[in-house]
Amino acid sequence: MREFLVAGNWKMNGSTAASEALISGIVAGVPAGSGFRLLVCPPFPYLASVASQVSGSAVALGAQNVSEHEFGAFTGETAPSMLRDVGCDYVIVGHSERRAIYGETSEQVAAKFMAAQAAGITPILCVGETLEEREAGTTNKVIDEQLDAVLDTAGAAVFAAAVIAYEPVWAIGTGLTATPEQAQEVHQHIRARLATGNADLAQKVQILYGGSMKGENAAGLLSMRDIDGGLIGGASLKASDFLAIAEAAAQS
Ligand code: 13P
Repeated sequence: MREFLVAGNWKMNGSTAASEALISGIVAGVPAGSGFRLLVCPPFPYLASVASQVSGSAVALGAQNVSEHEFGAFTGETAPSMLRDVGCDYVIVGHSERRAIYGETSEQVAAKFMAAQAAGITPILCVGETLEEREAGTTNKVIDEQLDAVLDTAGAAVFAAAVIAYEPVWAIGTGLTATPEQAQEVHQHIRARLATGNADLAQKVQILYGGSMKGENAAGLLSMRDIDGGLIGGASLKASDFLAIAEAAAQS
């Protein structure tokens, strides 16, 4: 049985005071029960302080991006070992905002994925299609290209220590959500693609949904067979909103 992972991507929001208030609200309100895990991914400057606040709690820490390089002359970048050093267990790689705004290619995302794993950090590989791609009927093709960049270079076995997040670009920050059925269809496709490399493993990999997930739609999405949690943007910025999704996972 796969555990749910409810992950908050805070994106470029907050301040010292706001991140402290947010994480203390989350830590204080973790729902009772089992079968789910909570994760927060604050901006880099707040990782260390959030790390001390989540220490000993049921909330894990992750970062939003990482360099594909180990160390050296890469001004402005953050090495995987540094994330590990400040207490990160997870890192998001290949978020559509990084692909679209910063031009990250699937090959670069695959390199980040491998670099994170080499440092003992679980990568959360984001995949997803734009509205144009969906309307052109190329959703699966786009997802396959994004997945295959990792599968073809590293094989399916690396997904034993990885998470996948399906984030349809058209649903991110738009208030539009994929219906549970639409999301399930793609999640099932992703799992089937992984199964061509390793059928057992494919059943174990957590596949999260991201795109305007909130308390009101979480239960429906989480009820689908291949949806194992959420990667949440907007609704992760208020403790009560995030905890409503956590509650849905605890009840599912
Ligand atoms: P929203 O929940 O704000 O749509 O963002 C989703 C997302 O991009 C999480 O990584």
